[in-house]
Amino acid sequence: MLGRLNHVAIAVPDIKKAAETYRQTFQMGVKVSGEVAQPDHGVTTVFIDLGNTKIELLEPLGENSPIANFLKKNPSGGIHHVCYEVDDIYAARDRMKAMGATITGTGEPRIGAHGKPVIFMHPKDFNGTLIELEQV
Ligand code: CO
Repeated sequence: MLGRLNHVAIAVPDIKKAAETYRQTFQMGVKVSGEVAQPDHGVTTVFIDLGNTKIELLEPLGENSPIANFLKKNPSGGIHHVCYEVDDIYAARDRMKAMGATITGTGEPRIGAHGKPVIFMHPKDFNGTLIELEQV
């Protein structure tokens, strides 16, 4: 059922600084995207293309950012979630439900930060790791 690792998301308090770390320290230049404000998702994102997968930097945006609490607990930032690819988000959702896993929010797929349908699986069922499933 699970496909490739699509990305690892890292919550950061200062996305400009974090992006600069990848551009300069890791010498990644053009592989580091510009900042994209995503008001619908309460985050600003930067993507870093590693070839085999991506790193998604997330900075809180607006009042009700879904990563605000995470950054309160982890002020210098940290790994927020991992995203695995699936062929069929509804089949994945049904399987997760049947296995007793908890889907966050309404439990219905919604369009994620990359314009594709996603669900998020609660960390309590997955060894403390928030898992995003994305249909590709
Ligand atoms: Co993500």
